[in-house]
Amino acid sequence: MKTLADIANVREALIARFETLGDKREILKASELKELLASIKDVAPEERRAYGQTVNALNQELKAMVDSEAERENVLPPIDVTAPMDVNAPQPSLLPSENGSVHPLMQEIAIVSDIFQRMGFAVEESREIDDQYHMFESLNFPKGHPARDDWDTFMTEEKDADGDPFIAPAHTSTMQNRVLRKYRDNLSRGESIAAIVPDRTFRNEDLDARHEHTFYQVEGVYVAKGVHAGMLVATLQSFLEEYYGKKLDVRMNPYYFPFTEPSFEFALSCPFCEGKNTECKVCSGEGWVELLGCGMIHPNVLKAADIDPNEYTGFAFGCGIDRLVMMKHNIEDVRHFESAKLDFLRQF
Ligand code: FA5
Repeated sequence: MKTLADIANVREALIARFETLGDKREILKASELKELLASIKDVAPEERRAYGQTVNALNQELKAMVDSEAERENVLPPIDVTAPMDVNAPQPSLLPSENGSVHPLMQEIAIVSDIFQRMGFAVEESREIDDQYHMFESLNFPKGHPARDDWDTFMTEEKDADGDPFIAPAHTSTMQNRVLRKYRDNLSRGESIAAIVPDRTFRNEDLDARHEHTFYQVEGVYVAKGVHAGMLVATLQSFLEEYYGKKLDVRMNPYYFPFTEPSFEFALSCPFCEGKNTECKVCSGEGWVELLGCGMIHPNVLKAADIDPNEYTGFAFGCGIDRLVMMKHNIEDVRHFESAKLDFLRQF
């Protein structure tokens, strides 16, 4: 029959073995421990209580040792942020420049920016995440306006100061308010506001030869005294003819945007089928490819930037750069741009 002294001996042996084990959980399967647990029922009734309590205490002690070891293994060693790198380590050599080239969209954005700069426009950058004020309110879409649903946006789970989710901008028009505010003082000096914003935009689209989820637009904003729609048409026509280097067939249709009034859609005749192929994937057999939206800036958009619409008027446009480039280089599918296919990229 085992005694309390036997338990003390087993305890000592098991604790010593614990230190040597690779897998510490093995200690809970030790035959000595099993024997002690099984022996409780054989101890004389007057000693059984104290004996049983001591065996159980040993069992619990070993379990606690196994748990604390597992916890210690889960804690990652702290990172030394004071010396994250060896400044004297040799630099890896750069890849040879012939392995890469400027992406065709970036090449064309440089050309587009250059043309507008020569026409007197400043160039501004957009952002890849924005708030609902700039996506909607500042553009005359009040909260709850049904036209908000026309924009297939991606939203974040994180909320802005008004408690609304952030948005990956669905168009570069999100920058209109910022551009108007930045250059507002030009007006009091008798100068105009003239800026473009070429940058990335995102839409939750059904993808096809003309529609990507990630694409580029160039926004244009022009405000001064006495600006009218004829100036808008002349500016776009001059830009497009300079960009394509030839006279163009363009079509302007009335359209609806909450932030311009009147609003128009500008289309180019399809360079792939010239309107002769009813099966054409690029223009869907219509003979025209919609290139940009535009119009006269709505008075509420000017007011949102503290510009008096009774004194100043302006125009704005948003042109799809991918489509602009597709028409220039006869690219039949917009999805090539984001595909990262080298056989496509190496042609530019
Ligand atoms: C707009 O985005 C308006 N913000 C344009 C605007 C600006 C109007 C300023 C008035 C004043 P729209 O959704 O039509 O409008 O897009 C403009 C252009 O972006 C289209 O003509 C097209 O060339 C391009 N575009 C739109 N969606 C896609 C897409 N999924 N993939 C590629 N290009 C696209």
